[in-house]
Amino acid sequence: MKKFLYLALLLPLGQRASAQHAASLTARLDKVSLTVALAANGQPTYAVHYGSKTVITPSRLGLAFASGQGFEGPLVLTGSDTKEVDDTWQPVWGEVKSIRNHYRQLTVHLRQAAAPGRRLDVVFRVFADGVGFRYEVPQQPGLTYFTVQDELTEFNLPGNHKAFWIPGDYDSNEYTYSTTRLSEVDTTPIEPIQQKSDPHRIQTPLMLKSDDGLYVNIHEAALVNYPAMFLNVNTQTFGLRSQLVPDATGTGAKAYLQAPEHTPWRTIVVSDKAPGVLASKLILNLNEPSALTSTEWIRPQKFVGVWWEMHVNKASWNYADTSNIKLGGTNWNRLKPNGRHGANTANVKRYIDFAATHGLASVLVEGWNVGWEDWAGNWKEEVFDFVTPYPDFNVAELQQYAHSKGVKLMMHHETSSSVTNYERRQDAAYRFMREHNYDAVKTGYVGRIIPRGEHHDGQWMVNHYVHTAQKTAANQIMVDMHESVRPTGLHRTYPNWLASEAARGNEFNAWSTGNPPEHETILPFTRLMGGPMDYTPGIFQIQLESWNPAQNKGKQVHTTLAKQLALYVTLYSPLQMAADLPEAYEQHLDAFQFIKDVAVDWDDTRVLLAEPGEYITTARKAKGKEEWYVGSITDENARTQTLKLDFLTPGQRYEATIYADGPGASWNKNPMAYQIRKQQVTSRSTFKLQLAPGGGAAISLKPVQK
Ligand code: NOJ
Ligand code: CA
Repeated sequence: MKKFLYLALLLPLGQRASAQHAASLTARLDKVSLTVALAANGQPTYAVHYGSKTVITPSRLGLAFASGQGFEGPLVLTGSDTKEVDDTWQPVWGEVKSIRNHYRQLTVHLRQAAAPGRRLDVVFRVFADGVGFRYEVPQQPGLTYFTVQDELTEFNLPGNHKAFWIPGDYDSNEYTYSTTRLSEVDTTPIEPIQQKSDPHRIQTPLMLKSDDGLYVNIHEAALVNYPAMFLNVNTQTFGLRSQLVPDATGTGAKAYLQAPEHTPWRTIVVSDKAPGVLASKLILNLNEPSALTSTEWIRPQKFVGVWWEMHVNKASWNYADTSNIKLGGTNWNRLKPNGRHGANTANVKRYIDFAATHGLASVLVEGWNVGWEDWAGNWKEEVFDFVTPYPDFNVAELQQYAHSKGVKLMMHHETSSSVTNYERRQDAAYRFMREHNYDAVKTGYVGRIIPRGEHHDGQWMVNHYVHTAQKTAANQIMVDMHESVRPTGLHRTYPNWLASEAARGNEFNAWSTGNPPEHETILPFTRLMGGPMDYTPGIFQIQLESWNPAQNKGKQVHTTLAKQLALYVTLYSPLQMAADLPEAYEQHLDAFQFIKDVAVDWDDTRVLLAEPGEYITTARKAKGKEEWYVGSITDENARTQTLKLDFLTPGQRYEATIYADGPGASWNKNPMAYQIRKQQVTSRSTFKLQLAPGGGAAISLKPVQK
């Protein structure tokens, strides 16, 4: 076996290996090594090591087609190619200014042993922090259109790792994480998973930790024209098997493709340190460069919104308390207002004033357009038209008012998951936006999808999200998608796609059992591996009774106030909401200063301390400035975090403003106690941060002029 091991590496780069000699091919970069082999039964497998440790034991590769004529039968190896790439690129926005893309590529050419002898390539890229691979179906005689019925990819793990997982719901990622051994993965007790068929089906990004100290993350990159990949866990052997999201036909079909075509990349990020996983740029590197011809109109930004007041039941999205509304058939002016409608002109002006006073770029307004009386839950096709305001929302007046204050309004398109309806109306909706000076839209997909039977994470919807990113880009519109499929790094290709939700956001703290304090320490290791999240941090009025005493009895957000500040740094996004109401911030303008100051675009990022499910401390350098911001968060346990400020420029003095949990603070008993202090520091200083249970700390570091 050993003598074949380095065959691919011994060949000069770019040369083609001949088939007959190669039983096994390898590629390596630093500690990461890949072995691809063809088993005696003609099944191709791959394995991954990190130094002397095993990441993936030999695991199957392959695609099965609907006709049964896929690549599940015996294959032969007909050759391989290698190449090495080492370059750098600059993202339009991001966590760092410049990204190194260094990998060794191994392309394995396979052919069916029996007739019709179809060809399949598997392309592997080995990075210093993991491996990506994808299937490529080349142009070939006798294969044009084909349906992928199953992907046979496996990720066999060498042990019963600790796993951070959410259940494999094809329509939602809005779950809290379970932390169990792989042998204990069982989604049955969790409500409300919509498809109960397999209690061992979970979602990616999947975060794993091995007993021998490896941190492994499994996900995918560049999900286009293909369904999302879920994973079925074998709780006895610790094998994971790819499970693609089915389409609406009920035939088990997953993807309809036309050769030449390729699948998304399957990604395995590995490090012996937890911060190494968070620093990985592997998924971005596997995505295509920006497809946009101009990007100067894309602006990372902070925003407020007529939003949380609906989630805490102080106001409503709907204008009337009635139902049985029909687009085109209802006279909105005749409806009796319910007196609680949040998106009224006067209230929106209040938010515009607040944004203008505090230098925030924009104001999201939800519930501005007709249809909310009848949205979600009815599986009805014509819910919203995206252009008709309620009678108390004056589009022209607000356009003018926002403009006069130097603030943008952010559009909201809740589709109620009637996606066919949205697609029919997108052109008119974006034209309306351009006419009224909106340049960003938050979309949403609450409820069951129309076309009926499609899933949020299937091929049809995946194409819709990409189509929406392209269509908004063509109109120079930035987009933030809620309830979309979880991201896979496509914001590199479509940098106007600033963020997605696609996880359980802060809003769950308003009206459900909420998010446990550990939640935000897991998100960067899971959901955020694929891209930025619109988590909506910044809740200051943590006890929600003050907004609606009758309905919010005892309800509170599971956080301390200082932790809400830290989230602006630990949860990366170029789009960050200051989610609370203006009147909540006005009570605590000293703490609000951090939200005003913190950047949303960065030249550098250092993850200083991290352990999934426990704590994260991250430092980031603001774009084009000498300023740094630090966020530090913990789970339900109090902690002391000691950090060295050696990332600061040597010789420079900085004024540090430290926003910390106050004495006796805790997420459940005393969440709003905080203290702010200032101190001068240099790159030689160290900090000891005391984090309260469920708490955090935020620090701004600004240079002191000499
Ligand atoms: C769910 C979204 O996540 C939330 O932000 C929004 O307010 C509601 N849907 C209504 O569209
Ligand atoms: Ca949501």
